[in-house]
Amino acid sequence: MTDPIYMLGLESSCDDTAAAVVRADPTGTKILSSVVIGQTELHAAFGGVVPEIAARAHAEKIDIAVKQSLIEAKLGLGQLSAVAVTSGPGLIGGVLSGVMCAKGICAASGLPLIGVNHLAGHALTPRLTDDVAYPYLMLLVSGGHCQFLIAHGADRFSRIGGTIDDAPGEAFDKTAKILSLPQPGGPNVESCAKHGDETRFALPRPLLDRAGCDMSFSGLKTALIRARDNVVIDGTLTQKDQADLCASFQAAVSDVLVEKTRRALSMYLEHNPANPTLAVAGGVAANRHIRSALESLCTELETDFLAPPLALCTDNAAMIAYVGVEKFLADDFDDLTLSARPRWPLDQSSPSMLGSGKRGAKA
Ligand code: KG4
Ligand code: ZN
Repeated sequence: MTDPIYMLGLESSCDDTAAAVVRADPTGTKILSSVVIGQTELHAAFGGVVPEIAARAHAEKIDIAVKQSLIEAKLGLGQLSAVAVTSGPGLIGGVLSGVMCAKGICAASGLPLIGVNHLAGHALTPRLTDDVAYPYLMLLVSGGHCQFLIAHGADRFSRIGGTIDDAPGEAFDKTAKILSLPQPGGPNVESCAKHGDETRFALPRPLLDRAGCDMSFSGLKTALIRARDNVVIDGTLTQKDQADLCASFQAAVSDVLVEKTRRALSMYLEHNPANPTLAVAGGVAANRHIRSALESLCTELETDFLAPPLALCTDNAAMIAYVGVEKFLADDFDDLTLSARPRWPLDQSSPSMLGSGKRGAKA
C-alpha cells in the first residue's frame, strides 16, 4: 500500500445505526469519523430489542448516518476507496438496511463493495486501535455472543470455546429487567453494582466443574430471581438489595469469565508461546469490573492485555470500515449480489454451539 485508503463503513446489525470513515496508510490507521445513532428509547418500553422496530429505524437513519460521517471526515464519495458494510450475522431487517444502502452507494458511484462479518469487526478492533500482530487470543463478549477466538487473519479464526446458552450481555440485560433497572442492562447494572456488596448473595459460577472453556450464563438468571424473591418485600426491593444483587451478579459473571479465560489462554499459549496477547471486545468488554479482573489475570500470566476504548467496545462502524481495509488490501471484494446473512459463524469449521446467544439469530 502506498496511497492512503479511505474506507466508508456501515453497521446496522442490531440496535445501533452507524457509519464511519477510516483512513489507512503505511504509517497507520486513523478514524476520521464515527457516527452512532442508538435506538435505546425506541425499545425501552419492551425490555429488549424489537426486530421490526429496529429494522424501521435503521432504514430511516442509515442515510443520515452516512451523510454525517462524510461531513465529519470532510470527504466526498469521490474521495473514498470502497464501501464496507456489515452483511451478517444479526437481525435480518437491520442488516438488509445497511446492505441495501451500501449497494446503492456503490451502484451509483462505482466504488467497490465489501461485505463484512460483524463479529470480525469486534475481533479485529485491537488491530485498529493497537496495531496488534496476528495471532492473538480474542474474548468476544457482547449481547449476542461469547466466544474465545484465535485470530490468525482477517478471514481466519479458530473458535476454542464459547457460551452454550445466553451471552453475558444478554444476562446483564435480563438482570436489569429482573431488578427493575432500565435497558440497556450492562451499564445500568454496572453503575448500580458500584455501591453493592458482591459477597452478600452466593450466586453460582456455572460450568467451572467442566473442563475446557465453554460457558453458560442462563442459570444465573434463575438463581438471581430466587435471591431477589428471598429479600423482596411487598413487591419492592430496597436500593441496598438492588445494589447487592447487581454486585453479586457482576462478580459471578466476572469470576466465570476470568477462570475460563485462564483455561483458554493456556490452550492458546501451548501453540503460540511467542504471541502472549489477550484482547477483549464486544459491549461487555466496556464493563470496568470485568476489564480489570481480566487485566489482573494477564499480569499474573505475563500476557499482554488489550481492551479497546469504551466507544469501540460496543457496536460501531469504524470496526467495520477497518475490516474493510484489511479485505481491500487482500483484494477480497463483493459484487452487487451481496446478500444479508443472519447467521455467519467466524469459524466455519467448528460445530455450531447450542444457543450461542439468543438475542437475534446469530452465529
Ligand atoms: O457489542 P454490543 O454493542 O452489541 C452486540 O453485538 O450485542 O453489545 C451490547 C451488549 C448489551 O447486552 C449491553 O447490556 C452490554 O453489551 N454492555 C455491558 C456494558 N455496556 C454494554 N455489559 C456489562 N457492562 C457494561 N458496562
Ligand atoms: Zn456487536
